Formats: sequence, structure tokens, C-alpha cells
Amino acid sequence: MSKEIKRIAVFTSGGDAPGMNAAIRAIVRNAFNNDLHIYGIMRGYEGMIDGNIRRLETTDASNIIHRGGTILKTARSMRFLTPEGRKLAYETLIDNDIDGLIAIGGNGTFTGASKFMEEYPDIPILGIPGTIDNDLYGTDFTIGFDTAVNTAVQAVDKIRDTADSHNRLFFVEVMGRHSGYIALHTAIAGGAGGVLIPEEDSSLEDLVKLLKRGTKRSKLFSIVIVAEGNQMGTVYDIAQQISEKIEVYDDIKVTVIGHLQRGGSPSAFDRVLASILGFSAVEALMAGKTGMMVGIKNNSIHYTPFDDAINKRKHMNKDLLRMSHIMAQ
Ligand code: F6P
Repeated sequence: MSKEIKRIAVFTSGGDAPGMNAAIRAIVRNAFNNDLHIYGIMRGYEGMIDGNIRRLETTDASNIIHRGGTILKTARSMRFLTPEGRKLAYETLIDNDIDGLIAIGGNGTFTGASKFMEEYPDIPILGIPGTIDNDLYGTDFTIGFDTAVNTAVQAVDKIRDTADSHNRLFFVEVMGRHSGYIALHTAIAGGAGGVLIPEEDSSLEDLVKLLKRGTKRSKLFSIVIVAEGNQMGTVYDIAQQISEKIEVYDDIKVTVIGHLQRGGSPSAFDRVLASILGFSAVEALMAGKTGMMVGIKNNSIHYTPFDDAINKRKHMNKDLLRMSHIMAQ
């Protein structure tokens, strides 16, 4: 029998993602609904190590559903990678009588949670996928992905206007060190002339061929979406190499959207997703679940052990990728 949960703590960790606040709100509200005491740990594992934790009231969850960033702040903690750091973190939880944890973050966050659970299995932990990258196995969508794609598409729409006016080729870099989800969805929604992602082997020759197919039918401007972690190199190198092979465009430009993708008010989709996952994480903790990420698959709640969420690779939808290449022509 798992012990009764009375005091839970929530934290956000790793890169922030729009919708994290909506998840915190859902956790706070459902905790209150179940007469649980709820605590917020500031700056992720850093705050856990430093004892930076405080009781949350329902009012803390008011007026935050529409806000980007995270009211609990976040950090990428190096100290938590050490046994000494994790011991200090455990002491903070014990000092505050915390008997359940909810971690909102991505791969690094769950790697830390999994390690922590091996050493201190007496505190159950559940994870909520919060990262713009959408790269976690065990969930169709992560919190923040939809908003990030919408931000990138708005930028591409604007670039399209000026690219068209000047007959220019634009390379637009979007985030995703290891994952091409943002790039692929931005390319499809933004009507891009090409997409380069980490999951696919692309060559300069293929890209030249693709762009030339467009210019042959008098397409005088184009936009290629480049994921940060694509296999061909930096967006600047790619632009330079293409400029040596294709001369029809008046000019070639590079735009890096960067951290704009991480901020802003979450989309309605991300707010709903975050609410469902936050609400469900509280229920799951109370039902005695631990060591799992709460995700969504085919519109239903789906639990994935941390080890799978971290180590298994979420496969790109090959049909979507093929479609995007055909649409790009
Ligand atoms: O993991 C989310 C993400 O935004 C990646 O897409 C990006 O590569 C990385 O974080 C950037 O991290 P930081 O803000 O720490 O530079």
C-alpha cells in the first residue's frame, strides 16, 4: 500500500515553455480540491537544493493561465547531477514534509527525477512534459510546442512578405537541438520551400535540386526552415553554400527566430493540454503512481515510465515529412 499523500510540491525545470503556468494552476487547483497542501519550489532543482520552497495558495494560481514563462522560474541545474546536490535536495523535501513531487520539464528534468528516485524512492515523483521541442516519447504533444510553432509561423508569414517583395531566398532557423518537430510543423504551416531537420539526412545537392525546381517554374523567392540541430551545419554555412550554387535570387538572407519561440502567451491548445496534464498528475500521485510522465496519446491520458520517456526515441511522422517535401516543390 502506498502511503497517503498530503503535501505535494511542484517545480519547473530546464527550458521554459508557454503553458507551464497553466499546468501549475491546474495542479494548485486540483490539490486544493483534494485538501492537499501544495508547495512551489523555485528555479527547479536549484531551489530544491537551496531550500527555496514555499506554500502556494489558490491565489498564486490566479491570473496566470494566459502568461508565458513560469511563475516558479526555472534553471538547468549542474549541482543536481552530483550525489551531494541530490542529498541536499532530499533534505529540503524531508524538512518540509513533502510526500509527493510533480516535475514539469523535458528530458533533462526527467533524467534528474529518475536518478533521484533510485536514491530516494520514498518520495513519489510524476512528470509533466513541458518543452517546446515536442521530443518526448510517450506523449503526442508537449506543453509549449503548439505556441512555439505558432510564433514561428507568424514570423515566417512576415518574412514571406519581404522575401516576395525583394525576390530573396530566406533561411529561417527555428529551435530544436535534437528535434525537428518545430521545424517540420512550421514548414508545413508556413508553406516553406524546404525543411532541414536533425532526424533526416539532407544534402546540399538535394536542397539545390529542390530550390531549382521552384526557380524553373518562375518562383522568385523561397523560405527554407532550418532546425538548430539539422545535419548540414549552421544556418549561416548552409546559406553561404547555397549562394555559391544558385544565382537566381536577388539575395540570400538568414533569420534566427531564437528565444522568441520560448515566450509569449500560450495558445488555447497549450492551455487545455497543460490543464489536463496538471489535473491528471495530482490524481495520479494520489492514486499511488510514481516514476512516470503523464502524457497524452490519441486524446487519452497515457503514463510512461521515466526511463522510457528519456531513452526511447519519439519517431518523426514519416508521412508528414514526405508530405512536407511534396508541398515544398
Ligand atoms: O529544449 C528547449 C530548447 O528551447 C531547445 O529547442 C533549444 O535548443 C534549447 O532549449 C536552448 O536552450 P537555452 O535557452 O538554455 O540556450
